[in-house]
Amino acid sequence: VEVDWSLEAAEKGGFPHYMLKEIYEQPWVLENTLGGRLLEEVGDVDLGLELDPLEVDRVHMVACGTAAYAGLYGKYLLEGLARIPVECDVASEYRYRDPVVDGKTLAVAISQSGETIDTLEGLREAKRKGARTLGVINAKGSSLTREVEAVLYIHAGPEIGVASTKAYMAMLAAMAMLAIRFGRARGTLGQEEARALIRELKKLPRLVEEVLEKRPLIAHIAEKYHQAQDFLFLGRHVQVPTAYEGALKLKEISYIHAEAYPAGEMKHGPIALIDERLPVVVLATQGPLYEKTLSNIQEVRARGGKVIAVATEGDEEIRKLAQDVVYVPQVHPLLSPMVSVVPLQLLAYEVAVLLGRDVDQPRNLAKSVTVE
Ligand code: G6P
Repeated sequence: VEVDWSLEAAEKGGFPHYMLKEIYEQPWVLENTLGGRLLEEVGDVDLGLELDPLEVDRVHMVACGTAAYAGLYGKYLLEGLARIPVECDVASEYRYRDPVVDGKTLAVAISQSGETIDTLEGLREAKRKGARTLGVINAKGSSLTREVEAVLYIHAGPEIGVASTKAYMAMLAAMAMLAIRFGRARGTLGQEEARALIRELKKLPRLVEEVLEKRPLIAHIAEKYHQAQDFLFLGRHVQVPTAYEGALKLKEISYIHAEAYPAGEMKHGPIALIDERLPVVVLATQGPLYEKTLSNIQEVRARGGKVIAVATEGDEEIRKLAQDVVYVPQVHPLLSPMVSVVPLQLLAYEVAVLLGRDVDQPRNLAKSVTVE
């Protein structure tokens, strides 16, 4: 027993939980995912894919859980940079909804394990209907890798914590690269714009490292709010998936009820929930919709809600509005999810630890769901 214990301790590399270790591995994971693929000079990325972006005219993202949120992020980028229409579905819906697919549809199956049954079946359904296929996958040699035409490995390394963290980060980076490649191939993304994005992608490992240093502040925020019954997460545009992922992390490991909404949709329902007991986490980083998000924060405050803002370094205005602010470094707005998700992972982690939850093995959840 003692041998097992020390082996496990060694595998956790001095961290109390795999999840925390994996959160801290993210700068290295980003280096790995992006490594050798960014061609800054030419303003393109080399994904080594056989697949020609010009042979497809729409994309269907097929995934579950955290991977499905990575797909939603991919939608914003692929539509924005490559002007290709993208549909996102959780695989359990996709496989049964009789999606409209033809030979110019690219089904992108996103999966850490490559073994999730709904994702595999969703992919098979797309293939039966004649789709082209791409897997965005972490686990080498997994079932999914054998069923797709092309694989884009995310190279996150083994992920042990049931709640996905570093694989999500790597999936986001993969989505950004895919969108750049498609944008360049389709002529919708200029060389200079691509170069600018690539330069920003290269900065990410260092920027994520900086965010990790915010852990003491986040632990303090967790201390303040860990008794809350519910949490609301809000974001706009590329930060909508970040909000979903933050809420998912919190509910998975702390068992606190959390929901996420696009901030602009708050007035159509969730605003009714807001009172002085509701912590509202708002992704309020700089970008074209920043002012709109500020208005949402004001609406929350006017109803007594407690605002925890994730904002861009140097934003002093937000201090006047939010009870708590976690600053993340300035980065291209389209890449802001990669720096912003880290405080949400840490918040979920710190809250779960304070509540005495089993962080790495949350109740009722499995790392990989291979039965329907
Ligand atoms: C399970 C895990 C989640 C994961 C999802 C999809 O629900 O608990 O963390 O996001 O499956 O897994 P996949 O391996 O396909 O990415």
